[in-house]
Order: sequence, then C-alpha cells, then structure tokens
Amino acid sequence: MDALEAIGKRRSVREYSGKPIPKKDLEIIVDAGRLAPTGHNHQPWDFVVITNQPTIQRLSKAADWSTEAGAIIAVVMDPVREYWVEDGAAAIENMMLAATAMGYGTCWVQGNAKPHEAEFKLLLNVPEHLNILALVPVGVPVDWPVAKDKKTLEEVLHWETFSITNH
Ligand SMILES: Cc1cc2nc3c(=O)[nH]c(=O)nc-3n(C[C@H](O)[C@H](O)[C@H](O)COP(=O)(O)O)c2cc1C
Repeated sequence: MDALEAIGKRRSVREYSGKPIPKKDLEIIVDAGRLAPTGHNHQPWDFVVITNQPTIQRLSKAADWSTEAGAIIAVVMDPVREYWVEDGAAAIENMMLAATAMGYGTCWVQGNAKPHEAEFKLLLNVPEHLNILALVPVGVPVDWPVAKDKKTLEEVLHWETFSITNH
C-alpha cells in the first residue's frame, strides 16, 4: 500500500480481535515513528511497546475499548525539547500510517493531559521528568470503521491568501 492509500484508509479503530501481533511487525511500526521529523533533529522520544496482557488491561483505564489490542505503544517524550509535542505527534501519525498499511487498526489515545499519566509512568517505569504524550493501541481490527465526517477540501483549502471568498 502506498502512502496516499494508507492516509486515506486510516481510521481510529476501537475494536480489536485480541490476536497477538508479531514482534517484527511492532518493530516495523515503531521504526516508522523513529523516522519522523523533529525540531533540530532532537528526536526527544522513546517508545515503550506493551504486549503483556495484565499491563494492557491496566492501561485500558485510559480507553476502555482497548483491552483486546495486541499491543499498546506508549510514546514517551522529553518536554525539555521545545517542539516535543509536534515531534511526538509526527511519530504517532507515522506509526499509525505504517500500522494501517500493514492491516492493523490503531487509535491515538491522549496521555499526558489525562488523569492516569502518573500511574502509567510508575507502571511502565518511565522517569519522572518525561511525559507520556500518547498511548497507541495496535490491534487486528474486528471491522474497519466508516470514515468520520471530515471538512471538505473546499472548506479548508485557501490559495495564496486566507480568503473568505473560498467559503
Ligand atoms: C491529539 C489526539 C488525541 C486523541 N485522544 C483520543 C482519546 O483519548 N481517546 C479516543 O478514543 N480517541 C482519541 N483520539 C482520536 C480521535 O477521536 C479521532 O482521531 C477523531 O475522532 C477522528 O477520527 P479518525 O481518526 O477515524 O479520522 C485522539 C486524536 C488526537 C489527534
């Protein structure tokens, strides 16, 4: 599947079959995150891949539909770096697109703005000074959700200036 196809196919998938995911596939997905662009090339991240069931169950507090994920990837960022949110977001989207291209479902689950972050950091041995920007469940989808309503290209695309005549 090429990049445009994966971009068009990606959905937030929130229902997984519970099938395990081969370690090699998870490595390919995280590698796609590793290759994302970062401000000043700081790469202020680590990726914790959780495949053990008891930990997945505990992380599912953040998203109760994620209990049947084959893995959850915690995206751990160093907030000392100026662009840590943008950097992490680029990695997350890269991973979601790679997973989509491989036939897996994913969903972006917010991490550091949610009340469970401190508990999850303890659970995953994440150092105090780092943030969990997101949890990304990865799983074999039960079915592929229909596309969410998106703004049309005409609504959001402006040529040359931010002209209201577009709307
Ligand atoms: C920054 C961010 C945080 C999100 N956090 C959550 C979340 O905590 N739980 C959840 O179920 N979905 C979460 N989502 C997924 C969005 O709900 C989803 O992307 C949106 O509804 C559009 O659907 P689509 O991904 O299928 O296009 C998040 C998405 C983003 C970009």
